[in-house]
Amino acid sequence: MDYKKAISQPIFEIIGRTADELKLDTYVIGGFVRDYLLKRKIPKDIDVVAVGSGIELATQLASKLPKKPQVSVFKNFGTAMVKHDELELEFVGARKESYHRDSRKPVVEDGTLEEDQKRRDFTINALAISLNKKDFGTLLDPFNGLEDLENKLIRTPLDPDITYSDDPLRMMRAIRFATQLEFRIEASSLDAITRNKERIKIISKERIVEELHKIMLCPTPSKGFSLLHKTGLLDIIMPELTALQGIEEIEGQRHKDNFWHTLEVVDNISTETDDLWLRWAALLHDIGKAPTKRFHKKIGWTFHGHEFVGSKMVYKLFKRLRMPLNDKMKFVQKMVMMSSRPIILAEEHVTDSAVRRLVFDAGNNVEDLMTLCEADITTKNPKKQRRYKNNFKLVRQKIKEVEERDRIRNFQPPVSGEEIMDTFNLKPSKEIGIIKEAIKEAILEGEIPNEHDAAKNFMIKKGISLGLCPK
Ligand code: CTP
Repeated sequence: MDYKKAISQPIFEIIGRTADELKLDTYVIGGFVRDYLLKRKIPKDIDVVAVGSGIELATQLASKLPKKPQVSVFKNFGTAMVKHDELELEFVGARKESYHRDSRKPVVEDGTLEEDQKRRDFTINALAISLNKKDFGTLLDPFNGLEDLENKLIRTPLDPDITYSDDPLRMMRAIRFATQLEFRIEASSLDAITRNKERIKIISKERIVEELHKIMLCPTPSKGFSLLHKTGLLDIIMPELTALQGIEEIEGQRHKDNFWHTLEVVDNISTETDDLWLRWAALLHDIGKAPTKRFHKKIGWTFHGHEFVGSKMVYKLFKRLRMPLNDKMKFVQKMVMMSSRPIILAEEHVTDSAVRRLVFDAGNNVEDLMTLCEADITTKNPKKQRRYKNNFKLVRQKIKEVEERDRIRNFQPPVSGEEIMDTFNLKPSKEIGIIKEAIKEAILEGEIPNEHDAAKNFMIKKGISLGLCPK
């Protein structure tokens, strides 16, 4: 079969012509070929391998392109990058040693195309299409990657123990591709991952997290997390999560398995949002349950304060994994901290003041919080399921109504500190704080509307009760 169509963009013809001039056999390889054959969105970064110097090819190519783009050369790795329109063209010389872009070991021994393909991660990533004039558009597939694409199989070109120990990140990549493409990992490969799991420790946290993010953004992240769990990788990367696994029974009382529950919540939320951090919040919403689990003779299992403990654990986990300790982390912490609040509302009769308090505390994240809590409903009891869902609908409706009326979301005190000082002829003092807090409470409780005049009247009464005298 002819794969000319895959490389119909003019840039491929130019690369081919340049390669011919330099007498270099040259191929497009990796993700571009894979995604083209899978009819997925074609990636913007395109990998080109030349049997010879990839850097020379890149340099020569850049000089031919109308915009004369810069060539970024990574001499240690024998690679070069050229930007062309939106594309990032990565050039590399075929090598005998393991190929990967950000390998720390700069061993570059020239090899043939097949030797290069053999040292790549998976057969589906080792497919190459020729760019030279003599065989333009020919697919080179010595390891049956095409068949694996059809059979939806993740398989390594070499003995998996070798492929994975060449670059242990590939264990994560295998699981990520399986989740992203909905492929199966070959049994011997899965065994090799399990055997080599400890080697993940030599990989930088940033690269591990990059793969976790990609798994997280899949339609069904639980697939990836159960593979990470099954192979033992998860225990090394995020022991807080695997600690949630298991059901204990004392005196006939059991609690649910919070690990599998969590994965269900992540899948549920993924049908509702593509927000990476809200998905992370779902993954971590129950992590405080392992350290807070207790059994009480009278009431059974409790996880008292797990939301608070969990939000502290979020910080530690982010720090350990070198994830950003910024507003994203704070958002995840807030979601974990507040994750039980709407549930309590949905279980009971929903009062306006409870809704106002929820909106006050959640602020602009109140919708995200509701989405998380709805995803948290994993009961298999259809009656309960329906009841919770209906109650949540009610809570959402109430949030809207209360917000329209009281504008609590971005609460600004309707009476300022200056006005209080002015009214009672006060200098800065603790009474001002007390009065402000009392006004806020009165609004949240629904005793007064969130309006200036009503708040001012209330302020005067409150001041008098504190022994102050209005002017
Ligand atoms: N590769 C590898 N081992 C790695 C990383 C990459 O063998 N640890 C090879 C594969 O042939 C891969 C190519 O380098 O196809 C390009 O790597 P990269 O751009 O990271 O991945 P893609 O396959 O393009 O896919 P994605 O962008 O989804 O990561």
